[in-house]
Amino acid sequence: MKVRTYRETDEHAVLDLWERAGVSRPWLDLRAEIHEKRKRDPMLFLVAGDDRPKGTTGPGVILGSVMGAYDGRRGWVYHLAVEPDHQVRGIGRALMAELESRMVAQGVRKLNLQVRADNLGVAAFYEKIGYTDEHLTSFGKWLKPPDRT
Ligand SMILES: CC(C)(COP(=O)(O)OP(=O)(O)OC[C@H]1O[C@@H](n2cnc3c(N)ncnc32)[C@H](O)[C@@H]1OP(=O)(O)O)[C@@H](O)C(=O)NCCC(=O)NCCS
Repeated sequence: MKVRTYRETDEHAVLDLWERAGVSRPWLDLRAEIHEKRKRDPMLFLVAGDDRPKGTTGPGVILGSVMGAYDGRRGWVYHLAVEPDHQVRGIGRALMAELESRMVAQGVRKLNLQVRADNLGVAAFYEKIGYTDEHLTSFGKWLKPPDRT
């Protein structure tokens, strides 16, 4: 298993992974998010997987992903996901370690991430890899609300 930068040919595999790992939401346009991400710090969009066989052009097997972002002040972590059948084998930790190292290289001093209230089971994972619950409440406002129909 290797962690590497996302490539264009990974798109379908990553969208499928997000669906299976439960990080997608019906109202999110994840394909558009990926396209935007490719324009901004693309080196912070990582996948974990097995290399594609020599001579082939497909994505190979994608087992995990994480999308990082640096806003100039803090680094942010989005869409961390590992294939359900491959969880608890160190892939999430490896993705986060590589993301952290790339963030450090860009001068990021602190990473933040949000966990949905209905997914607090993942808190134990984040604590294991050194994150702490900062007991903050998150506010948001859609400036262009998604079509939820
Ligand atoms: C959260 C997630 C990415 C973790 O990835 P993973 O590959 O399973 O995690 P790892 O195997 O690297 O685990 C690292 C450590 O955390 C522990 N851990 C992982 N998931 C855990 C859980 N749900 N509860 C308790 N401990 C957990 C592992 O046992 C391991 O501990 P160790 O170092 O003592 O062996 C994965 O469970 C996932 O994709 N979940 C669904 C999507 C999701 O909720 N993403 C996060 C959105 S905020």
